[in-house]
Formats: sequence, C-alpha cells, structure tokens
Amino acid sequence: MVAAVTLVGRAAGCERAEVVLSVRGREQRRIRFGRRAVSRTVAIAPPAGAERVRLRAAGCPVRIASITTTAPVAPTPSGVPLGTAIQAGQVGMPDLAAAVTSTFRSLTPENELKWARTEPQMNQYDFRGADTIVDFATAHGLAVRGHTLVYPSETPYWVRRLVVADLIRKALVNHIAAVIGRYRTRIREWDVVNEALDWRGQFQRNTLFNALGPGYVEDAFRAARAADPKAKLFYNENGIEGPGPKQEAALALVADLARKGLIDGVGLQMHTTLGAAPSEATLLSTMTAFANLGLQVEVTEMDVAAAGLMPLRWRLERQAQIYAAAGRACRALPACTRFTVWGVSDRFSWLTPAQLPLLFDAGLRPKPALSALQQALA
Ligand code: XIL
Repeated sequence: MVAAVTLVGRAAGCERAEVVLSVRGREQRRIRFGRRAVSRTVAIAPPAGAERVRLRAAGCPVRIASITTTAPVAPTPSGVPLGTAIQAGQVGMPDLAAAVTSTFRSLTPENELKWARTEPQMNQYDFRGADTIVDFATAHGLAVRGHTLVYPSETPYWVRRLVVADLIRKALVNHIAAVIGRYRTRIREWDVVNEALDWRGQFQRNTLFNALGPGYVEDAFRAARAADPKAKLFYNENGIEGPGPKQEAALALVADLARKGLIDGVGLQMHTTLGAAPSEATLLSTMTAFANLGLQVEVTEMDVAAAGLMPLRWRLERQAQIYAAAGRACRALPACTRFTVWGVSDRFSWLTPAQLPLLFDAGLRPKPALSALQQALA
C-alpha cells in the first residue's frame, strides 16, 4: 500500500531542518526544508490499517503550514508497464526487436503517426510506417501509444496554405477522425495534442494557434472523443516535470478539458540530463497535482543525456539513479499508469549516440539504468 503525503513548510529560525515521518513508530521518510516555504510530496508505504502519520522535527524547528495525504491505495499488482519508442525501420532488426519484446510492454511510434507522415498531402494518407509498428506490436501482444495526432509546431505546410480558419479546423478534425478510425481497435491511447505551450506558459504561436486561437486544443480533443469514445486521450508536454509557469499553464489547460470530460491523462515527456533531472519528490508532487484533477499520468518520452567530463561509470550510475527516482515516483502513485522511454538503444537515439541517453547501449547491451528502472517500477 502506498500513500502520498504533501507537507508545506519551512525551517523556523535555522538554515535547514528535517521532518521525520513515521507510522506506528516506524520511520518512513525524512523531508528537508530550507528557510523558504516549499511544498514537498513523498510516497510512504504505511502498514495495513495504519491511520496516523507522525511528524517529528529532527534537530531544528520546522513550521508546517499544511499537510495533506492521499488514502493508502493498493499498487498495481504487476508494477508499472515499461514502454519504448520505436521507428518502423527498427522492427526488422532482429537484435533490437528481441530486446524490445523481452523488455517492454508497449510501443510508441517515434514519428510514424505524426500528421506530416500520416497525411503528407490533404486527404492523401500514408499509414505504411505506422502499420509496420502496430502490426509488430499486435503480433507480440504489446500495447501502442498513439503519438501524436496534433503536434502544433510540426503541422504540415499544406494546412497553413488553407489560410481560412474554417478550412483549417475541418482539416484538423478530418485528420483526427481518419487516423483514430484506422487504428480504433488497436490503439487504445492517444497523445491528442503535443507541446502546445512555451516555457512562459503561453500558447506557442504556430499555424493552428494563429488560425484558430487557443480553442484548437479543445477542438482536437472533441474530435478525438467523437472518433473513439473509449480511447484514453492524453495531453503530452515537455518541461512540466517541475513547478513553474509552464506547469501551471498545463494544469489550467488540462483542468479545463477534464471539467468538460474531454481528457483522460497527461504525459510528462521527461527529456532530461544528468544535471537537470527533477528529484523524486518534485516528480511526485507534479504527478500528484495532475492526478488530483482525476487524470492518469504517464512518463511518455524519458531519456537522460549523459555526455560530460566525469568518468563513464559515474555518469552511467548517476543516470541509473535518475531513471530509478522517476520510476519510484511513478510507482508510488496509482494514477501513474505507464512509463515510456524514448528509444531502445543509444545507437538510434534522437539525441545522438554520444549522449548515451537510453537503457541499452549502442551495442544493445543493457546499461545500469535498465535494471534500476525495472526495480523501481516492479
Ligand atoms: C523526435 C523524434 O525522436 C525524432 O526522430 C524526430 O526527428 C523529431 O521528433 N518531443 C516529442 C517527440 O514529442 O515527438 C520528439 O520526437 C522528441 C521531443
């Protein structure tokens, strides 16, 4: 059983303070606070039937402004499913395909479902790449994440040439209906809109926004709901793993869609680096914030760029810790239903092999991050 505890607090009259969280006399976690008031969320695993969480300040006084807990919930029995992105050309590589089927439970086409690929010209569809991946997944009992119906910054040029707002909206809706329709029984989960926001939390200016205003996001979700009322619909975004204006804007955007019953989940892309990776506590609090809106949360595109001057072994260990921390945060929340990494082998990473970002090295040997993440999700 796992519960999430959120404390808002600060060290009172000292630089740093620590709160020890225990249940029935057993220490569960320690949470550190500095002088500024911050919100910290941690996962605890209280023994069955335990009703109280005890807090004790260790060393130095702590002022706690608020404490909230989620009720203990049984974790998913077999752990969080691990998925990967794949390209159509990789399906025919026997070594890579074997690593995929033995390690992952779902596949995300890395590019093959993007608008410019599936509908390169208006009403001329090309599903060859996506079919290759979906057929492979079906043959091996793997789920498929549909990524992505709308990637506003990568809208094909022919859409822009339509100029008139109504025509652009029609093209958007037709596109979504056609792609969802083709895979209705085989793809149960879609990134409907990918990366609508910029780092300031404003809508990115692009073809769709310029023609339709912010309402294009809702238009897309409505079209997806209508095309397959049972599919799980996601908003997928980068750089919202930690607090800030972009995360706030994403919360507001999906809260509005959730109120209208148009969305089921949020994807945290989690493209990160050894230096910039969010902590487990940060992720847990982010995931909790989205889960509190009644949404599923998934890590959808994780990779950890690990180029640098430190010795290779150190970097790979650090990378393993970062993957594991993200895995533990996801595992702790029942709302976190899948964990996807953005590729199989470093050799084919979009970040280039030199970044060593994935779970298998360029020779398809498992890296320390693989077992660390598997353990965290189990
Ligand atoms: C990337 C692919 O990995 C590359 O092969 C392609 O050239 C560009 O797109 N966020 C996303 C993904 O949502 O679709 C992007 O995928 C990576 C960043």
